[in-house]
Amino acid sequence: MSNIICKTLGIEKPIIQGPMAWSSFAPLVAAACNAGALGVLGIAAAPNDLVREQIQMTRKLTDKPFGVNVFMAPELVERVLPVLLEEKPAVVYADVLFDLPAELSKQFFTPLKEAGIKIIVKASTVKDAITAEQSGADLVVAKGWEGGGHVTPEATMTLLPQVVDAVSIPVIASGGIADGRGMAAAIALGADGIEMGTAFLCSEECTIHENAKNAILAQKDNESVLIMGSIKEPCRQIRNRFSDEVIALENDHPVKEVEAQLREKFGPCLKIGMHDGDVVNGSVMSGAIAPIITKIRPAADIIDTVIAECKEIIAKSNSFSFN
Ligand SMILES: Cc1cc2nc3c(=O)[nH]c(=O)nc-3n(C[C@H](O)[C@H](O)[C@H](O)COP(=O)(O)O)c2cc1C
Repeated sequence: MSNIICKTLGIEKPIIQGPMAWSSFAPLVAAACNAGALGVLGIAAAPNDLVREQIQMTRKLTDKPFGVNVFMAPELVERVLPVLLEEKPAVVYADVLFDLPAELSKQFFTPLKEAGIKIIVKASTVKDAITAEQSGADLVVAKGWEGGGHVTPEATMTLLPQVVDAVSIPVIASGGIADGRGMAAAIALGADGIEMGTAFLCSEECTIHENAKNAILAQKDNESVLIMGSIKEPCRQIRNRFSDEVIALENDHPVKEVEAQLREKFGPCLKIGMHDGDVVNGSVMSGAIAPIITKIRPAADIIDTVIAECKEIIAKSNSFSFN
């Protein structure tokens, strides 16, 4: 019997390496794919030449299926569609903060599907998961607010079973999963597979600055915060000077007065933190599960350990005592 996620995507293990801006480039994506998972390029808003370059670079490093992230804004979708139709990655991974646009999704997904490309949509609400299914998505990722990067107001524990009940396409759990315990919990809640982001930031193949990796390894509980919630774009990152400044702006002023300033500050923050390694004045967007990550490892080791741990937990669950 084969797993529906594996069957749909043509992969060996039901694990997705989530797309991460400034963080999941060709070396990590190819490493995840070569280990049997699905790697996804985090180039959702990148210029077309970078999208093409990253796709071609990934192809040099792996002959397995991989995904390309696209942010569902009309101008981005329109711009990148010709590149995707020419390059034909196996998977397009669409993401949106809230309110997946139904018409735009149908218009975008239809030619991709006709070209044989599979569609994954990241949903942060039940409504978006339903829209994804109605728009032709093959798989939906239900991402809860424990995760790194932009998040939902719902926890994975609560969002996931609701999405599982609401759609008939397979569901991938995301947000707060970094080991086999998390994977087993996701399966118990009805997921057919999992997505991890933060765990892969601490892989050997991830190209982020070593300061960012060290900041994630040093992260303790209660040290991640949500910023940009005031403009309905909540984003999880490690608390630092940058997040303190953003939160002070959000708390001390009416939103309308500071929205432009917030966006201007936020724009380069991921490059400054993840790429340049300034983990004080930039953003390290790791999730709330980071404290259980203790070392830098090859992506293949992360994937294989999660699966081995999960299998062990599921096997042991038969001996759980209910009285
Ligand atoms: C640094 C960082 C950048 C991210 N950028 C994106 C992105 O551009 N597009 C997207 O769909 N998700 C993005 N995400 C979310 C991940 O794809 C994934 O859903 C999330 O990391 C899963 O939760 P976890 O971090 O608890 O594993 C990002 C996450 C991180 C940590």
